[in-house]
Amino acid sequence: MSNKNWPGFLAAGIGTAAAGIGLALHHKKQKEASEEAVIFGLICPMEEETTPFREAMDITETTRLSGLTFYKGTLDGQTVVLSQCGVGKVNAAVCAEILCEHFQISYLINIGVAGTTHEGIKQGDIVIGNDAVQHDMDVTCRGYRPGEVPDMFVSYFLADDDLIALAEQAAKNCELDGAAVHTGRIASGDQFICGGEQADKIKETFDPYAVEMEGAAVAQTAWVNQIPFVIIRAISDNADKDAPTSSYDDFLPLAVIHSFSLVRRMLLLAGGEEAPKA
Ligand code: ADE
Repeated sequence: MSNKNWPGFLAAGIGTAAAGIGLALHHKKQKEASEEAVIFGLICPMEEETTPFREAMDITETTRLSGLTFYKGTLDGQTVVLSQCGVGKVNAAVCAEILCEHFQISYLINIGVAGTTHEGIKQGDIVIGNDAVQHDMDVTCRGYRPGEVPDMFVSYFLADDDLIALAEQAAKNCELDGAAVHTGRIASGDQFICGGEQADKIKETFDPYAVEMEGAAVAQTAWVNQIPFVIIRAISDNADKDAPTSSYDDFLPLAVIHSFSLVRRMLLLAGGEEAPKA
């Protein structure tokens, strides 16, 4: 897999993508890949986002670690480990680290809903995160760039090109009630964004396609573990004054279905399956 962030990371790519995408699923320890099963780690923050996956999975193993439940099994022909991490960056990082270290996953996908401050993106649309930044990481008064994690020399954690391509391909094969699919930046922080100065500042500084509360923490954890990742978020609200109430609540169910459908299509395509539209 390729990732500009990761020196020495072995390229594998999704190949020619001739018929379907047929992801050539090599992972970081490419020399061992033939002996190791490919495992997708799936992280959802909330119960509403996790339940559709858990119900669709064939679960073979349930493990409790650090207060979290991990469901291992199969979904659409792939081995997956699913967990509900809870809300916020610390919860997300704890969960992602367990998936990387304990479950030895090959790929990490963070799935859920998000707000948007970006023109042209509507509720129900999907954002495939091509990079992720912590909008509340701010050491600018000491000369660091916005979002830069001191001593890590990085503000924007790059998602894996091949997983992005897989998601984009999946979007073409997925019925999403007319919703659009965009590829762009995700900004994460331990704040629910509902307009005002904070929304303006995030837009001005990072111009993200989606704002949420976990993605960049998953991204940073994946990055330190050299695990390819991507973030898939469906838009539930416009991160404005209506976001905390009606807007979010009204669109949450639709947004959950859209991100669920897209990720299932990704798993099918990863197995080389050219399934009809969902
Ligand atoms: N998740 C969904 N909507 C959000 C918002 N407006 N801010 C942060 N996280 C969100």
